[in-house]
Amino acid sequence: MTAGTRTLPYAYYSEPAILAEEQRRIFAPAWHYVGHAGELPSRGSFKATHAGTVPIVLVRDEQDTLRALLNVCRHRGALVCDGAGTKRNLQCPYHAWTYGLDGRLLRAPRLSAEDDGDTVELGLLPLRLERWGALLFVCTSPQAPPLAELLGDLPARVAAGGVDVDALRFVKRSTSTLEANWKIVAENFLECYHCPVVHPGLIRAIDVSEEAYQLEAQGPRLSQECPVRAGAEATFEGAVSRGQFHLLFPGTILNIYPGRQNLSIGPLLPRAPARTERFLDYFVGEDADDAWFAELLALDDQVGEEDRALVERVQRGVTSGLLDAGRLMPRSERLIAHFQALVARALAGSG
Ligand code: FES
Ligand SMILES: [Fe+2]
Repeated sequence: MTAGTRTLPYAYYSEPAILAEEQRRIFAPAWHYVGHAGELPSRGSFKATHAGTVPIVLVRDEQDTLRALLNVCRHRGALVCDGAGTKRNLQCPYHAWTYGLDGRLLRAPRLSAEDDGDTVELGLLPLRLERWGALLFVCTSPQAPPLAELLGDLPARVAAGGVDVDALRFVKRSTSTLEANWKIVAENFLECYHCPVVHPGLIRAIDVSEEAYQLEAQGPRLSQECPVRAGAEATFEGAVSRGQFHLLFPGTILNIYPGRQNLSIGPLLPRAPARTERFLDYFVGEDADDAWFAELLALDDQVGEEDRALVERVQRGVTSGLLDAGRLMPRSERLIAHFQALVARALAGSG
């Protein structure tokens, strides 16, 4: 094999300095999937969460507008909100600075007596929030291109695949923590070379053969598509004839299985060089009943546990210290090569 098929240096999967650079160069300017509009059902709804590592609060204000605000008090930096619920305003628990649902500073004890400065600029920092149907994305960088640019033709592909995103119903959020670098988790997602070896349930459902399993990279969108396996059509009957598994760089994962209308989406969140947290929000269409979804979830959970074992053993292997890098299969792992090039380019931009 040629030098071009080497993996990233193994040090990239364990060094804190690399992760710090990735946070700054890759995750800070990215769009992050943060949840869905159903989590903010009425005026006054709020939800404290994160965009990557940045604490944010999502609100539905009195005018019914969804907003994302930095969840950091402008006084001395305490987190303002916890959990989720309904509020008329957002009050910091430290010294009771109180903000409107639009983020404006409404009042602060003793402020006018001690400081005659302008309070307008002391509101909670507004962040960019954009949506695709009910799916909410937040970006903390004013410079990043709009969400539509990241999504590219993904909405069209999902629609063409038989899934009406606007009509989906939220069913469940799954959360997990993996003892592996976020790139190992992403890279495992980006190839199905391992599927016949490790995922007996999955390969009974979909055709993972080299001829049938399509890999396609377009800028930040890395996509895999495949048909139902011959003989399994009856089980996966429905509006969706093909599986779609997408990664939006750096870490938004979107899955569609064949069968009834379904979609799951969620982020990879690096928490330490060898720890990644993730969640997946599952949605289904009207054609999918609870029994069908339960079967889908059982399959996806099984695949997830099989993948957990893989990524955690890769993490233990790449930190042995005796090997500098591994090898990529030029065809079957070309999405990994594309992903690694995106990582390397972003890090090189750090000078
Ligand atoms: S830190 Fe929030 S009111 Fe003081
Ligand atoms: Fe897998």
